[in-house]
Amino acid sequence: MSQKQFLIIGNWKMNPKSAREARSLFAGLTKKSSSFGLFSQVVVAPPFPYLSYVRSTKKIQLAAQDVHWEREGAYTGEVSLAMLKDAGVQWVIVGHSERRRMFFESDEIVNKKLRATIKAGLTPVVCIGEAERDLDGAFFATLRRQIEVSCAGLSKNDLGKMIIAYEPIWAVGAEKPARPEDANEAALFIKKVMAQRYGVSAARKLRVLYGGSVNKKNAGAFLREQEIDGLLVGRESLHAQDFIGIIQCADLRL
Ligand code: PGA
Repeated sequence: MSQKQFLIIGNWKMNPKSAREARSLFAGLTKKSSSFGLFSQVVVAPPFPYLSYVRSTKKIQLAAQDVHWEREGAYTGEVSLAMLKDAGVQWVIVGHSERRRMFFESDEIVNKKLRATIKAGLTPVVCIGEAERDLDGAFFATLRRQIEVSCAGLSKNDLGKMIIAYEPIWAVGAEKPARPEDANEAALFIKKVMAQRYGVSAARKLRVLYGGSVNKKNAGAFLREQEIDGLLVGRESLHAQDFIGIIQCADLRL
């Protein structure tokens, strides 16, 4: 039986405080990267300026935390896909809940970023997730709306060229993660919504990650769930040892 390859992404957010610390965090990972197994793809997403201080390798690829959909021009503060490509970036996080909440990114904006990223040949990681998990399951409607608008206008083929990260907002940067079985249910729901829209065989190509308070102790429980294809990790990706612990859970199927 072929084993699926897990995707483990570390989102550094606006950390660490200096280029020196960023270099040493990355070096801490590369030093151990020869031990990363074949069954996990490791990606880190440093802040833009630090992208020039680290080099992507076969074992550790680079993601950007955001992008602008236009090619060039008068967009102060923005960064284009061509610039990211030049910096060796292969993945782009799009629509993180912190950007949606603090910088008013709508599903329509996320959609522009997603489509531009696929078109440029980089892989978008689109974040969706409910603010509250109500007992009646109304949050499923929120997820459906986010998927339908954020992922509008794709072709069947595109589903294999993108990732969706299910990140319930209440679990991001929190004390406690979602329950693995609930994250699995949400991942299955996301794949079903895509199947309704693009067909079952296209939806099978879509990979769904879980993110929100993942650490090396709970990572294995998420990865054992059938529909979860990897993890998006925030805080625990800021210490090489902790992040490596999570990667080991993926490699060893712990
Ligand atoms: P966290 O962040 O792991 O610190 O909860 C996850 C994320 O924001 O992607």
